[in-house]
Amino acid sequence: MKSKAMSIPLLLFVLIVIQMTMGEAQLCPGYYSTTCPKAESTVREVMRKAMIREIRSIASVMRLQFHDCFVNGCDGSLLLDDTPTMLGEKLALSNINSLRSFEVVDEIKVALEKICPGVVSCADIVIMAARDAVALSGGPDWEVRLGRKDSLYASQEDSDNIMPSPRANATSLIDLFSKFNLSTEDLVALSGSHSIGKGRCFSIVFRLYNQSGSGKPDRAIDPYFREKLDNLCPLGGDGNVTGNLDATPTYFDNRYFKDLVAGRGFLNSDETLYTNEETRKWVVKFSEDQAAFFDAFVKGMVKMGDLQSGRPGEVRKNCRVVNGPKKRVSVPWLAL
Ligand code: HEM
Repeated sequence: MKSKAMSIPLLLFVLIVIQMTMGEAQLCPGYYSTTCPKAESTVREVMRKAMIREIRSIASVMRLQFHDCFVNGCDGSLLLDDTPTMLGEKLALSNINSLRSFEVVDEIKVALEKICPGVVSCADIVIMAARDAVALSGGPDWEVRLGRKDSLYASQEDSDNIMPSPRANATSLIDLFSKFNLSTEDLVALSGSHSIGKGRCFSIVFRLYNQSGSGKPDRAIDPYFREKLDNLCPLGGDGNVTGNLDATPTYFDNRYFKDLVAGRGFLNSDETLYTNEETRKWVVKFSEDQAAFFDAFVKGMVKMGDLQSGRPGEVRKNCRVVNGPKKRVSVPWLAL
């Protein structure tokens, strides 16, 4: 006779699912409309000021969404500073000397803590700020789903294992994005974020002088553009010198895709999207139809923003550190 009791493996599975769904926040638009009605307008305002101070900073903030969401979900783990007991993500291979403008996120957090303390998570700030960066640069504007919690720790190792290199080819990128339920169209549309911002010589010298160990440049680069890049990034030069990721680096538009078609992609991971057959059709489509790019980009950003780890979290007071243990209120007569 079969026992009515649940088998142990099934019980464990149910418990894990319960734990994951408990940790997983229900995201929705307008999440702060009653608890912090000015949250979204405050983020936009700080981003606008940051843009006036340094136009590139908003591209740098936008990039944070990708680097946060791919590593254990969009949980603000990227924003945590290292501690004596935790190596965080800021110094991971793809991030060190590269991610920037964390101080803009700090500024947003300070502004929000002033109007509604302890309410808006750092993870949600990243999502709102990324949307605002695109909208402020002339790209699409959209409604974001909010309600994320901030992680309690970060992992440099996880970031190292997950984030792609600028040398990546389209096949490996398709494979990586599919692990996050993101399609080939999502990959190409999201790479269109390189319509704004800059990259370092460090990220491209291999393709200028020694593509795939050949001792020769990447043949996909247009010769005139290569000359420009060679001048900007001479062999043995300063790897921290930066170049524009497309020809209109402060406007969010489809120029990035037009540049790829012309062999003028900055990163190998960009140009490979045109040389690969599977991704090329999307590059061509987006180069011809900006509205289709904007549409696919928004869908991709929302999908990427939905990635969650299911782990428990909190609303950090300071995006760089987890909240300390709650201080006990000592009531002398209760201690008796
Ligand atoms: C498809 C895989 C991707 C790869 C391999 C990649 C790689 C890179 C690299 C190497 C840089 C330049 C970093 C440097 O030289 O210091 C960069 C810059 C940038 N990336 Fe990506 N990226 C990818 C996808 C994305 C996505 C999905 C987003 C956002 C949705 C994004 C947003 C940005 C932005 C805005 C910049 C410029 C940042 C600045 O000016 O500070 N990237 N990316």
